[in-house]
Amino acid sequence: MKFIGINGSARKNGKTAQLLSIVMDSIVSAGGEVEVYHLIDHPIRFCMGCYSEDPPSCNPRHCTEGDLADAMRGFHQKLLFSDGVVFATPVYWFGMSALMKAFVERLTSLENAGKLLAGRVAGFVAAGEEEGAMMAISHLMAITSDMGFLFPPMPFTYYIGRGDIRDDPEAVEYAERLGRNMVRLASILQKEEVEWV
Ligand SMILES: Cc1cc2nc3c(=O)[nH]c(=O)nc-3n(C[C@H](O)[C@H](O)[C@H](O)COP(=O)(O)O)c2cc1C
Repeated sequence: MKFIGINGSARKNGKTAQLLSIVMDSIVSAGGEVEVYHLIDHPIRFCMGCYSEDPPSCNPRHCTEGDLADAMRGFHQKLLFSDGVVFATPVYWFGMSALMKAFVERLTSLENAGKLLAGRVAGFVAAGEEEGAMMAISHLMAITSDMGFLFPPMPFTYYIGRGDIRDDPEAVEYAERLGRNMVRLASILQKEEVEWV
């Protein structure tokens, strides 16, 4: 089973990346394979809003090929061939980072083509210093639930502060359990042939 970690912080060794890596390590311990991508290393353009054209021209090919080709084509393939995705973001102004928002907007063409990501497992990581971690996570959960992702119990972990995340036992416990439960849910789903859409 393959799980993709997406880091929406420009800081590749920041708190978001550190907490994400605890989740990914836990996935590996539970028997999953992982790949982690730092969005800052893979520039993608903003969504061009083709969904709102008349008629709509929003589809995965139009979104990622020809003049509009960029790193998103690779991300679409990675996610389509994955069992689960961990969305990790710093808290920027009570929400997700612009890097992560641009990324999820570019998944719209997969959703619009028939909820092509439905049935994959999702987990969420946020790191902040004061307020807003649950607003960022809730927004990501709303988006990805409509895309058809499924959530394990306790599908998120967040760290609030400027210290060492290892000094926050709850953040670490939630991260480790999240990784384990993503693998458990994906393995349950693997045994079922379910038509979700
Ligand atoms: C533009 C910007 C906006 C921020 N807004 C918030 C915020 O609304 N709430 C919060 O708790 N922290 C906020 N922070 C602090 C970061 O979330 C915090 O430093 C976080 O650990 C950064 O993650 P990173 O180490 O992965 O880069 C903000 C930081 C920046 C740069």
